[in-house]
Amino acid sequence: MERPAWAPPGIDISVPSVSRIYDYYLGGSHNFEVDRQTARRAMEFMPGLPKIMQANRAFMRRAVRHAVAEGVTQFLDIGSGIPTFGNVHEIARAATPQARVVYVDHDPVAVAHSRAVLTGDEHTDIVAADLRRPKEILAAPEVGRLLDLGRPVALLLVAVLHFLEDTDDPYAAVAELRDALAPGSLLILTHASYEGIPLPEEVAGGTVSVYRDIRNPLVMRTGEQIRGFFDGFELLEPGLVSMPDWRPDRAEDGADAESPEDPYAFSGFGGVGRKA
Ligand SMILES: C[S@@+](CC[C@H](N)C(=O)[O-])C[C@H]1O[C@@H](n2cnc3c(N)ncnc32)[C@H](O)[C@@H]1O
Repeated sequence: MERPAWAPPGIDISVPSVSRIYDYYLGGSHNFEVDRQTARRAMEFMPGLPKIMQANRAFMRRAVRHAVAEGVTQFLDIGSGIPTFGNVHEIARAATPQARVVYVDHDPVAVAHSRAVLTGDEHTDIVAADLRRPKEILAAPEVGRLLDLGRPVALLLVAVLHFLEDTDDPYAAVAELRDALAPGSLLILTHASYEGIPLPEEVAGGTVSVYRDIRNPLVMRTGEQIRGFFDGFELLEPGLVSMPDWRPDRAEDGADAESPEDPYAFSGFGGVGRKA
């Protein structure tokens, strides 16, 4: 079995991982055969999955630019994934040299690759931690060193909350993070949903079963349930919408922009809220 030099020691490369599957959908090179096989199985049910991922990344970039335009230059990106093209620190840094970013992921490959990409960058770092344990994230030395929690922070929970099951109490995790943030902080969030998917629920459900098989259940929530994550935040216009509908800016997103005519791009939800 292939074992590239970048694979951190100790990881089992025969077990698929959510971050490497996502890397494959986005055309990245940090994935193994087992990840590609899983991604292809999921795409048998939903061939448009890569379009959803591209729409997700394009939303994230627009939301980060919006944060900087609001004067928010500190970012806490939880479930940040394997760095590919157009990462948060690159987008934010292009908008302001003052940008500071702390990435958080629980996947060793995402952490190792982020660390490699960020070597020598004094304003950005990566923490190996779990969204289900927000206290550990908030207490991380990297957070203390790079972020001033007395000033607004943009908290990114982009395509990650749907990997937390209800028994993980994702609403409590988000509330704990919210309570640690200063007024004016932003919550930038996307989440998978059966709403908007251009397929019958039983067909899209095939993709959900693929993630269940790899013991990383994908929890599809309704728009109403996803809106619940914004408790204590005021949703900015246009509210919680399909990702391509959130302040579209095709000029900025350039060649990587989602194609609005592709119905898959309109699956799931994205939104930005501001803490009062
Ligand atoms: C679909 S990727 C999204 C990456 C990036 N946020 C984006 O939208 O481009 C989901 C990431 O969340 C991470 N993740 C899943 N559950 C997590 C948890 N409980 N704590 C921290 N990270 C988690 C995975 O390892 C993966 O890298």
